[in-house]
Amino acid sequence: MNKYQLPKLPLPLPLSGSQAGSFTEYTVTTRMPNIAHLVIQENNFSQVINHKLEQLSADLQSGYLQPLSNDNAIDFEDWQTYIKPYLNQRWLDIPWFVAETYFYRLILNLTNYFLPGEYQYLDPFLSQKQKSLETSIDSIIYLSSYLEKWLEEPQKQSNSSQLPLISALYFSLWGNRVDLSLWSASEDNRSNFDIQQQLNHILVDDSLAVMELLTQSQNNQIDIIVDNAGFELICDLCLVIFLLDSGFASQVNLHLKPHPTFVSDAMIKDVQYTQEFLSTANHDHVKSFSNRLSKNLAAGKLVLKEDYFWTSPLAFWQIHPSLKNELANSNLIIIKGDANYRRLLGDLHWDYTTNFTDIVTYLPAPMVALRTLKSEVAAGLKAEVIQELTTIDPKWLTNGQWGVIQLVNVDNS
Ligand code: F6P
Ligand code: MG
Repeated sequence: MNKYQLPKLPLPLPLSGSQAGSFTEYTVTTRMPNIAHLVIQENNFSQVINHKLEQLSADLQSGYLQPLSNDNAIDFEDWQTYIKPYLNQRWLDIPWFVAETYFYRLILNLTNYFLPGEYQYLDPFLSQKQKSLETSIDSIIYLSSYLEKWLEEPQKQSNSSQLPLISALYFSLWGNRVDLSLWSASEDNRSNFDIQQQLNHILVDDSLAVMELLTQSQNNQIDIIVDNAGFELICDLCLVIFLLDSGFASQVNLHLKPHPTFVSDAMIKDVQYTQEFLSTANHDHVKSFSNRLSKNLAAGKLVLKEDYFWTSPLAFWQIHPSLKNELANSNLIIIKGDANYRRLLGDLHWDYTTNFTDIVTYLPAPMVALRTLKSEVAAGLKAEVIQELTTIDPKWLTNGQWGVIQLVNVDNS
């Protein structure tokens, strides 16, 4: 008997790098080696470590997986189990989600992240994350001004206050366009966006249903499975502050990664860095944003959590029971970004028109995914929409210019 609650549909095959001409192949053979080189360039690791990173970069193209040396990390034993079936296989041939999550875990292993010494807990992507924040200061000011405006409106009982929630959801969605594994922080101007222009780029929009859901109950607990640090985190924190300070939520839990991964993914320390960054800003609205953030953190209304499930190669339906039970208390789980979405769908080759709710049947609470498309994984799209997109934007699945807001409403009362 399977101990997990699987999707009700038969599971298709996983994406993998061996699929010729796919974005997956391009990622394993080109993007991941580039990321390994970036780690060398942007840090001052020893020659021995840099040599190991070079080797990893070369292996990705056609070489085999290397084992993990014991680095005493909490998840070491788990990783031994996860990669055992794949150790004699090429990076290209194993499921893509395993390849990517293991690649990032291996970078930490090779750079002595978990071992006592000069590199312990040194985030190899730190400079990328910080740059992403520093280069988006204008957008942060813009967003902070919006936040103040939204919060001046009456609370959720009134109709006019309902639009700000939807706008905050849109900002959080489009914040996901910024992903440092796809674009380096220095060439980034994607945080300058016009929300109205982006409306046509939302392929499924359940934001109204999300608003209705949150209006139905009081003292909502909201759980956000966070994605990227930098500007996306600012957008998410803006949503959080709006939810808390407008009364849509009485508690928000942010679920963060326990170690660096996927270049830009946020950890607890990245939220803390962001808080410090905001607190030094010389602008009234940003100061107010920062004060609201600090107040909610101090009051325990905004809680920062981490769990090794979020850096594992497991599909969402393989979530461990204690985390699932924790999420069962939520009135709404918000799942951010592309990689978290891939985990939701198990990173499998679903037909893109498959009903999203027929796959995501295993969650203990209502869930909304806010995701811009950066990989060849999707569900819940209309056939005619897919046909049109293929004509107007052949790269629509991976260029991060199209988004979805997809709700699965589970009755957990
Ligand atoms: O597919 C491209 C990619 O870089 C993947 O590696 C990963 O799925 C994703 O994008 C990361 O994006 P996000 O930060 O939105 O999860
Ligand atoms: Mg990410």
